[in-house]
Amino acid sequence: MKEDLVNKINKLKRERNAIILAHYYQIDEVQAIADYTGDSLGLSRKAAETDADVIVFCGVDFMAESAAILSPDKTVLLPERDAGCPMADMVTADALRKKKQEYPEATVVCYVNSSAEVKAESDVCCTSSNAIDIINAIDNDQILFVPDQNLGHYVSQQTDKEIILWEGFCITHHRVKDDSIHRVRELHPDAEILVHPECRPEVVELADFVGSTAQILKYAKQSEVKKMIIGTEMGILYQLKQDSPDKQFYFLNQGLICQNMKKTALHHVAEALEEMKYQISVDEATRTKAKEALDKMLELSK
Ligand code: 13P
Ligand code: SF4
Repeated sequence: MKEDLVNKINKLKRERNAIILAHYYQIDEVQAIADYTGDSLGLSRKAAETDADVIVFCGVDFMAESAAILSPDKTVLLPERDAGCPMADMVTADALRKKKQEYPEATVVCYVNSSAEVKAESDVCCTSSNAIDIINAIDNDQILFVPDQNLGHYVSQQTDKEIILWEGFCITHHRVKDDSIHRVRELHPDAEILVHPECRPEVVELADFVGSTAQILKYAKQSEVKKMIIGTEMGILYQLKQDSPDKQFYFLNQGLICQNMKKTALHHVAEALEEMKYQISVDEATRTKAKEALDKMLELSK
């Protein structure tokens, strides 16, 4: 059954000249059939440079939207239409416009976990992989950072610039509290703790390593330590095990599951390619402005 679906996906993919991109938080089966698996930055880069006609984006809606902004001549499909990001919904273009009036001199940096409209209101985008580099490369000491307060706080610790925070957060990473770190330190004193900067400041402060999903994977692969405690979404385990089958991985919290990232199943991918759904597009005026912010990010993080 599963094999039939995989064969069907591969056949349709060839017929459509399609590429399947998947985030590291997707379910194992989806990561296994993807042509490219990556973090938000890697996926944006891939979407911008691919010569496929169709991009099937296995992730959440802001990711497919970014692909549509960067590659308007391609057909971008989001297999599960309801896969959204609650953090991205915590800032609207209207609210951002109001905040900009309070800080007219600030450069607006928006985390890619945001809508096309919010990107269009921003000067430059960033991901968790490049947020520090982007902010340091900006020729302004005052930054308005939206929407993730935790990533913004983490960046503010690594730069001398004034970072004005928005009150958004990732409902998955924000769940982890510092008592989890104290507990695992006692249980596994020989383990390294690796967390995503979307975690709370008090969690980040106690970790051994802080980084995006791709940076966590890189660190885990290179480390001499054999036991790791992970503070990010559990889908990352698929790649961690592939990279380091000899290591032991545990999670900081059993609630580290993003329900939206888990909505896409193999049959959705097959249906997406068969019926060419759900096509993601952005109106041209918004797209052009949002593209400037995304292009600037890609240029600054080469
Ligand atoms: P990265 O893959 O860039 O680390 O982002 C994490 C995330 O929460 C994506 O929704
Ligand atoms: Fe959004 Fe958090 Fe899920 Fe990423 S993990 S899609 S930031 S809710």
